[in-house]
Amino acid sequence: MSTIRVGIIGCGSLGKLHATCIAELEGMEVRAYCDVFEKSAQALLEQFGGAYATTDTDRFFNDPELDAIYVTTQHDTHTEYSIRALEAGKHVLVEKPLAMTAEDCVRIGEATVRTGKKLFTAFKMRYYELLWKAKELIPQPVVVTMQMMDNRWGDTIWGNDPIKGGGNVLSQGCHSTDILRFVSGGDPVEVYAAGANYYQPTGVIDNMVAVFRFDNGAAGSLVQGDSSCPPHTSKFFMQLFAENKSITITDRLTTMIYTEAGKEPQLFKGTESGFLEENKAFLRCLQEDAPAPIDHVDGLYATLMVLQAFESLRSGKPEPIKSVVEQAVASLAGNVKS
Ligand SMILES: NC(=O)c1ccc[n+]([C@@H]2O[C@H](COP(=O)([O-])OP(=O)(O)OC[C@H]3O[C@@H](n4cnc5c(N)ncnc54)[C@H](O)[C@@H]3O)[C@@H](O)[C@H]2O)c1
Repeated sequence: MSTIRVGIIGCGSLGKLHATCIAELEGMEVRAYCDVFEKSAQALLEQFGGAYATTDTDRFFNDPELDAIYVTTQHDTHTEYSIRALEAGKHVLVEKPLAMTAEDCVRIGEATVRTGKKLFTAFKMRYYELLWKAKELIPQPVVVTMQMMDNRWGDTIWGNDPIKGGGNVLSQGCHSTDILRFVSGGDPVEVYAAGANYYQPTGVIDNMVAVFRFDNGAAGSLVQGDSSCPPHTSKFFMQLFAENKSITITDRLTTMIYTEAGKEPQLFKGTESGFLEENKAFLRCLQEDAPAPIDHVDGLYATLMVLQAFESLRSGKPEPIKSVVEQAVASLAGNVKS
């Protein structure tokens, strides 16, 4: 197959990171860079090479030489740019979260199904090797916990803007919900949550604890926020439990201890190679014409798990997840009975 030619829209930190990964891959190259700031697009063109840098989105999306588009902009633009790319006949890799509302995730899903193009939701943590090892050692956990506690985010960064970013819990929490679902091996039926906007002046929910009930019987918990990063657990901290077995993953998910009753604990070390691995996975699915390994339904689940937790904060009750996703997926397939 000929080289996949990529366009990157959003030439900030993640645009640059993906360009770095693509530079390491055979079979893929960046052709075009697009940003609202010409200097940002130009800087990546100069560093990584390609055909052009532009602020003109019409030129970018309608470029017949582009096979795939990476959407690495702020969250409120993911929907418009993903749909424009799909409708222009391009495959899409979109940075997390897929979108900020369930409706927008469904709109992207609708465009994906309608155009038959591939859409990959970029959840790098799915490719952390220790999560795969954990799934191998405890394929059917009864309890899974995930904690992602960051140091306090600045009040003026776009991530804390309710329109552009949605706050730490939505922005980073979708990584956590995605890997909770991944390691639990089930889909979340419902969520109950407690938390609030404790201090961010923008009003976003900044710290939250949520409990998920999965359809395979597993129980999951999420601790997510930016009050302080605890040195003992590190920012990313996950545990899995099954009868007589446990797994604890610390050091940003790069150190794992596995215990089994009656045996010596086993220590495993891994790396944070998620960005490169997800780029390899995206390239592979394009070359092999295989389904995207993390698709629009996965993106919808990850966003909805956070949003329904927010809904539970307001309602004080458990809120459904799986039935909402199933209805959306059925409507995408045109199966909803009116
Ligand atoms: N997977 C991860 O671990 C991870 C980590 C950080 C960020 N992200 C995600 O990557 C995406 C980008 O985050 P970032 O940290 O690179 O942000 P950033 O602010 O560094 O870069 C965003 C870029 O998009 C440009 N931009 C903004 N609005 C635009 C528009 N309308 N059209 C074109 N360009 C526009 C900005 O000028 C900027 O260059 C977000 O979805 C974020 O959540 C993922």
